[in-house]
Amino acid sequence: MKKENFQFEFTRISSKDELNPIDQELMQHALRASAEAYAPYSNFFVGAAAKLSSGIILTGSNQENASYPVGICAERVLLGIVATQHPKIPIDTMAITYQSKNRESNVPVSPCGMCRQALLEFENRVNQPIRLLLGGVTGEILIIESTRLLLPLAFESSYLK
Ligand code: THU
Repeated sequence: MKKENFQFEFTRISSKDELNPIDQELMQHALRASAEAYAPYSNFFVGAAAKLSSGIILTGSNQENASYPVGICAERVLLGIVATQHPKIPIDTMAITYQSKNRESNVPVSPCGMCRQALLEFENRVNQPIRLLLGGVTGEILIIESTRLLLPLAFESSYLK
């Protein structure tokens, strides 16, 4: 028997003001995208912005549905846009933020399990990690160097070969 453990490092900063100007701008794009979310059921408006390695910035937001499971998260909306409009171009950084009508939006939220799986597949596909910036409208920001870190023992395409 062998016990193993998984650890990962991330950075926590106290506010957006501590981000470099490029990251601050990306967070702004994500916040603007959250205003385009369609979230009448959860009142949780998520915005995501990706800076591609070519410098282009694209955004996505969550899109809900009266048939709840049909709704799609901001991150996966964005991955679809990136992969369609700029195929094979890696994402250097993705900023994810939200505005909730039910609570103060002052703590970072991190991607749901399904989005982690989708983000990892995108990383594998283009062979480059996606750096994540996670934060609310105010408050702390988390910086994570690869989405892979959020999904230990992930199910990956190698299992299918
Ligand atoms: N949501 C996202 O867009 N991204 C996440 O990572 C977590 C949750 C959306 C899904 C749903 O529309 C709303 O937030 C509440 O769960």
